[in-house]
Amino acid sequence: MGKPETESRRHFLRFLAASPLLAAWLPALAQQRVASEVLKASDALNVFELESIARRNIPPAHFGYLSGGVLDDRTITSNRQAFDAWGLRARRLIDVSNVDLSIRLFGKPLASPVILSPVSSQRAFHPHGEAAAARAAGKRKALQILSGLTTVSLEDVMAAHGGEVWQQIYTSNRPEAGLKIAARADAAGAGALVLTVDLAGGMRRETKVIGARADTRDCGACHRQGPGYDFSRKKMFDGIDLAGIFAGQSDSLTWDYVARLRDVSKKRLLVKGIMTAEDAAIAVRRGVDGIIVSNHGGRAEESLVGTLDVLPEIVAAVKGKIPILIDGGFRRGTDVFKALALGATAVCIGRPYCWGLGAFGEEGVNAALRLIDEELASTMRQTGITSIAGITKTSLSKRN
Ligand code: GLV
Repeated sequence: MGKPETESRRHFLRFLAASPLLAAWLPALAQQRVASEVLKASDALNVFELESIARRNIPPAHFGYLSGGVLDDRTITSNRQAFDAWGLRARRLIDVSNVDLSIRLFGKPLASPVILSPVSSQRAFHPHGEAAAARAAGKRKALQILSGLTTVSLEDVMAAHGGEVWQQIYTSNRPEAGLKIAARADAAGAGALVLTVDLAGGMRRETKVIGARADTRDCGACHRQGPGYDFSRKKMFDGIDLAGIFAGQSDSLTWDYVARLRDVSKKRLLVKGIMTAEDAAIAVRRGVDGIIVSNHGGRAEESLVGTLDVLPEIVAAVKGKIPILIDGGFRRGTDVFKALALGATAVCIGRPYCWGLGAFGEEGVNAALRLIDEELASTMRQTGITSIAGITKTSLSKRN
């Protein structure tokens, strides 16, 4: 009995979707279609379908936190729009039967140039949180950068992953806390440290607050009351005196902190949050090992500048001296391809794998990574390229 009902419901939804009078309903109908047809991770056609399921599964306060940016969320849109400035130059009749996505980063082999960005508080999206992401990433030999505000410890994430994991550092408003986290990550065997530098001045995250208002649960049952993050739930802050800690980054932080971190750990050090050629040049002069071009997925400043927009000036400033990673709005393999063509060494994704996590746990994270890899491989075939090193600007055309 169940099956015919599902089928007639599908027919009904398709009939509604075909009606021009009901065009305004389409987004809602699309959500329903996804919910009724994507029953397991492998059913998802793309990461947006994982997002639809995650939106249904994740409570409004947590989904507001994941999806929102700052102020009007317009920099999230800017990140996405930046990809539309570039078209692809398709090439024909080249043997593309074997496409290799692997890269080496700091001498380590990775199966793909797609890396998991640090995203905080992943147990807000799925009970297994960062450990589920680690299992999926580890099986795919994908590099995972763990947030300084992780809800599963680095030690447990490394055990679940079994391969390359890096630790991102939030200094908090008391920078000595960041040094303690760096020392712990060093001792645990993190492959590199990633200092995030884009949260001076705090974050005015309105969508997050609106999501929390829509949530009928009692937030106080899980979270300590107070402004900003509840650091008592963040595993890398275990053992650190939390008195007076309330922000992700100190407003008085300067480039001198790079040297302070170097005193604590000799691991590779990357700086995340670079958005200008000037800061990229300073990073090189200060001797950091790599940078991540990032506006925190539109969650830091409301600049209306997409990360792909600034990539060319940063590539010119860095002159090939250190690897350049990038994040911000990457949803499709074509997006990844464009960043690599413009000179990025690798691309970090954040929300898409968290949508997978919220939708289907470990399987969903795997699906998000697999879908983007498959789309990247397909884009490479269409442009006649068989290796990541072969992706260059000659495959792009500027659109008006
Ligand atoms: C943390 O990185 C956040 O964006 O909330």
